[in-house]
Amino acid sequence: MRVISSVAALRQYLGEQRIAGKQIGLVPTMGFLHDGHLSLVRAARQRCAVVVMSIFVNPKQFGPNEDFESYPRDMARDLRLARQGGVDVVFTPDVSEVYPEGFQSEVSVRGLTEVLCGASRPGHFNGVTTVVAKLFHMVGPDRAYFGQKDYQQAAVIERMVRDLNMPLTVVVCPIVREPDGLAMSSRNAYLSPAERLAAQVLSRALHVAASRIAGGERQAQPLEAALHEVIAAEPLARIDYVSVCDPQTLAPVEALPETVLVALAVHFGRTRLIDNALYNVPQETCTDDPR
Ligand code: PAJ
Repeated sequence: MRVISSVAALRQYLGEQRIAGKQIGLVPTMGFLHDGHLSLVRAARQRCAVVVMSIFVNPKQFGPNEDFESYPRDMARDLRLARQGGVDVVFTPDVSEVYPEGFQSEVSVRGLTEVLCGASRPGHFNGVTTVVAKLFHMVGPDRAYFGQKDYQQAAVIERMVRDLNMPLTVVVCPIVREPDGLAMSSRNAYLSPAERLAAQVLSRALHVAASRIAGGERQAQPLEAALHEVIAAEPLARIDYVSVCDPQTLAPVEALPETVLVALAVHFGRTRLIDNALYNVPQETCTDDPR
């Protein structure tokens, strides 16, 4: 496995691979790797002869009062896991390599970034799209892999790629969970033992959503109310949002569409966690029976 930190060396190496006809897959991460990240590597390996993982804690996507400084970092461990996971190239640029003195540009997607996490974290998605656009230009991947764990992020990146004709395919992979249902996240490392237990309420709430839909619920409002109730019953949980929305536009719905997205963001102490699920909603067939 190669570990590269300059854009010039990265381009040099990947240029040779491209000329040799190899497909390049990119897995962008902020490190502190877990099996969610490694599932993206496994998916990339199925299709791409060269798998590049970027590890870069991107200062531009953190708000002034967020956890950029304290974001968990362990490069030695990450390199070990990346090597075991079958990564070919780890790209670990310094902040000054990505944002040199005088950097002034930004890539921004409207609309989709204004709801859900975008409403609670102003500027966050501009930081994400700016760094991901830069990574796409640095690496030149054929395919780039993202997790459904960050559903809105993947939707925003798909929109950016389409809107700006970026020549690559975005692949979105399923959420990897701990045995108790908690979605894996680097930020789970912040949780105290009591908060870690309390955080089970996220996946529990998603199960409640599934059973309400299976039980015939077809309206968003009572579904949202049920989710609020489940989460509010957990004393260590403080809700940021509970949204029952359209999976394409992320706009809230009233009647449940054929596929609905349930997205949650909840604080546990100083840690904000997100989770989501897509559900198929069997639609009533019109039975205008001429009896
Ligand atoms: P990070 O949080 O490190 O996540 C990197 C990728 O791993 C993202 O695509 C994320 O959705 C995916 N991922 C995280 N947890 C997952 C899980 N439990 N199951 C499946 N996939 C999971 O997301 C970022 O970094 C950054 O915003 C980044 C895209 C790298 C831009 O800085």
